[in-house]
Order: sequence, then structure tokens, then C-alpha cells
Amino acid sequence: MTTLITGGTVVSATGRTTADVLVEGEKITALLAPGAADALGVQAEKIDATGKYVIPGGVDAHTHMEMPFGGTFASDTFETGTRAAAWGGTTTIIDFVVQYPDQRIMDQYHAWHEKAAGNCAIDYGFHQILSDVQDDSLKAMDELIDEGVTSFKLFMAYKGVFLSDDGQILRAFQKAASNGAMMMMHAENGSIIDVLVQQSVSAGKTSPYYHGVTRPWQAEEEATHRAIMIADLTGAPLYVVHVSAKQAVEQIAAARDRGMNVFGETCPQYLYLSLEEQLGAVSEQWGEFEGAKWVCSTPLRSRAEGHQDHLWQSLRTNDIQMVSTDHCPFCMKEQKEMGIDDFSKIPNGIGSVENRMDLMYQGVVGGHISLERWVEITSTTPARMFGLYGTKGIIAPGADADIVVYDPAGHTSIGMGKAHHMKMDYSAWEGYEIDGHADLVMSRGTVVVDETGYIGTKGHGKYLKRGLSQYLI
Ligand code: URP
Ligand code: ZN
Ligand code: ZN
Ligand code: ZN
Repeated sequence: MTTLITGGTVVSATGRTTADVLVEGEKITALLAPGAADALGVQAEKIDATGKYVIPGGVDAHTHMEMPFGGTFASDTFETGTRAAAWGGTTTIIDFVVQYPDQRIMDQYHAWHEKAAGNCAIDYGFHQILSDVQDDSLKAMDELIDEGVTSFKLFMAYKGVFLSDDGQILRAFQKAASNGAMMMMHAENGSIIDVLVQQSVSAGKTSPYYHGVTRPWQAEEEATHRAIMIADLTGAPLYVVHVSAKQAVEQIAAARDRGMNVFGETCPQYLYLSLEEQLGAVSEQWGEFEGAKWVCSTPLRSRAEGHQDHLWQSLRTNDIQMVSTDHCPFCMKEQKEMGIDDFSKIPNGIGSVENRMDLMYQGVVGGHISLERWVEITSTTPARMFGLYGTKGIIAPGADADIVVYDPAGHTSIGMGKAHHMKMDYSAWEGYEIDGHADLVMSRGTVVVDETGYIGTKGHGKYLKRGLSQYLI
């Protein structure tokens, strides 16, 4: 199958050019001057991209399909979640294999393969969560690198569930310094949070808003600093996930200024939503529990404190390198509802895997970032950060033909649970008006979304054996 995408503006992290993109089989084989394919006698099915952007498919490096959490499971399966991702122009996800303290890491890794294999619409890789670092865990880190799992997430919060103490963190970081793995950190001080949560619930402050109040920025700044110090001590590269506090950004920026391999990820919810909006969220159906739709950790931050503005700025200055979703959807009914009398029982997470490319494109529309930076933070850097670059994250000969034709004149109104395909009974982005639209999405040379909608197949998506990070200084 040979396809020529004609007349579009091909956008990369470093520039834009008018070119025709030749796709043969699963690969991009050439970028041609407009019209050159005809002169060369190339026989191909044509896709007209005139007036549109031709970009590398989105790489969402932080998702939790079917994640077991808080007594339930994230509502999207690999099937529904990857299909929704495709709808929104994302062609690769990296999902987290979960290990709880009583579980064997390699068993969990194989279990995640069983969940994903044969079900995905787009390609997928895995990170590994380590929750109780022991000798076995360090051994598994070596084994998993050979399997293409080259990044490991630790938690400084959720005591008794995921939390690792500083000594455990140190040992895992020492291992990463020696085998080249990327350490990922959920940087919140769990001991402080646990006391604040208990005090809040005891005082009858149980509504969703108090989830954010009891996870203050100081707990994020402190943990981020501590993780950076352990990275400094060991030499391990550190990627701080779901950064929301401007003070945490400042810690990351300071470490980078010192030349450290320290990186930060933020998510659309921290750029757009705020604690004040969560406090004000009241509906007929749910009353003040409406705010549960935005309960995630790290939490939404106060707009009055300026976190959102600072995060946008950090995306411009590269103090923050990329944007993932932390897609971890739970329905309001029966799932978020578990915490109707006590916010601490609300399963944590927001679903946005379908919306990330569109939401971040609003940063281009609004003048926060350039078109090239949009491609960089949503595709190219995630691919480089997690060892997929060259195959993913770029439109160039030899790369996988993961391509999105994005129409800047397109429009989507997100509302009333209509315009989305995630397995959720609400949208965190209800009421958002999106300029721009992913008109056509190609995954390894196969069109999976076109003007008629999703036309891909379950099981088309393949496991990606990742290499070590290509982003290190
Ligand atoms: O609220 C969140 N972020 N849920 C997913 C788990 C995590 O910590 O990333
Ligand atoms: Zn986390
Ligand atoms: Zn997460
Ligand atoms: Zn359109």
C-alpha cells in the first residue's frame, strides 16, 4: 500500500515546510517537493492535506488503562482507551504496569501484556511502577530493560500502597544510574498529606475541594526537591510526573540550571483547570460533589497563586519539557461516587487521552506556544524522552507512518458526554470549545480515523520495545 499525503504543511519540532509525504507499507519513505511524485511517476493513493498541518502522531507517555486503584479499575480498557486516543490524534501511549507491595514485578509485567495484546488501536509501550523496592525489584529493573521497559515510577505518597521510603528510592536510583534507566517520580510528601487528610475529614471537611487543600504545593515542592537530591547523589536521570505547583517547577528549573538530567511533565488539567473552579463546581445532579470530576493527584492548584500561568511559561522556556495526560478515568456513578461522603475515598484521576492534542493546540491558538513547540511537547520530546525517537515523534524517511492531518479550521464543542469516545460518563472538558481538529490519523501506514470516524481495528496496535532515553544531556 502506497499513500501520498499532498499539499500539507509538514510540522516538526524544528520547523515547517510544504511537502508531500510518501508512505509505503508501515513506513514514511520520502518527503517530496509538491508535485515531484507525479514527475517521478510514483503510483499512490492520495490524501489531500491542503490548508492543513501534517504532524507526527501524538505520543502520550502517561496513561493508566484498566488501572486497579482505590478499590476499582480505571474505566478505559486498552481497547476503549487506545481507540479514544486515536480519535484525538495520539498514535502511541506508554502505560504503567502496576506493582502493589505483595505482587511480583515480572508477573505484573506479563499481566499487562495480556491486558493489552490484541486489544489496542495504536502502538503502546510500558513503564513499570515499583512500590516496595527490594533486592528482587532491582533485579527486575535489569530484566525489564531487556524487555524494552526502560523507565520506572516510584511514589513519595500513598503510604501502605505505593509509597517508597527514601532508602528504597535511593537504591532504585543507584540501580538506574548503573543500567541507564529513567526514574520517574510521583513527588508529593505522603506523610504530610495523610495527616492533613485525616484532620480535614475529622473536621467534617469532606467535599472534593478538600482533596486539593490537603495536598498543598509545599508537599509537592518538598518531595520534588528531595527526589532531585537523590538523583544528584546517585547520578540517575529523573523525570518528575504530573507537575502542578510552580514551586516544583522552580526546583526542576534550578536542577536543570545546574546541568542535571532532571525533567518535568505537566498535564492539560494543571494548565487549564484550577482549585477555585473545583470549589465552584456545583451541579443539580451532584451538588458540591460535582468537583469530584477533577480529583486527581497532584491536585488542581489555585489560580490566584499563579501556578497555571507559570506552567505555561515553563513550557515556553523548556523548564517543563512535555505534556502527557495521566489518563486515569473513573466514572462519576459508582466510581467517583465511592467518595461522596469522604473525598479521600474518591479514586484519583482524570481522563483526557482523547483531548490532549486538541487542548495543547489551544496553546498555539492562544499564543502561548508556537506550532513547532506544540509538536515538540506532545510528540517529539515524549518519543525522545522514552527511547522511541526516530521510529516515533518525527515525520522523516524511516520513521513509522504515524501521521495526523490536523485542520486548523476545524472545531469541536466538548459537551454533555457527547463529543468524546472515552469510557466515562462525563468529560473533564465539558464546555470547552476546541479550534482545530484531527481530520485523519494514520498508525503505521493504516488510516485509523478519517472523516467518517474511527475505521481502525482492535489489535492493530503493537507493543513497542523501547530503548534508553534519547533526551539526556
Ligand atoms: O490522580 C492520578 N494521577 N491518578 C493516577 C495515578 C498517578 O499517581 O499517576
Ligand atoms: Zn502519580
Ligand atoms: Zn499517573
Ligand atoms: Zn475536521
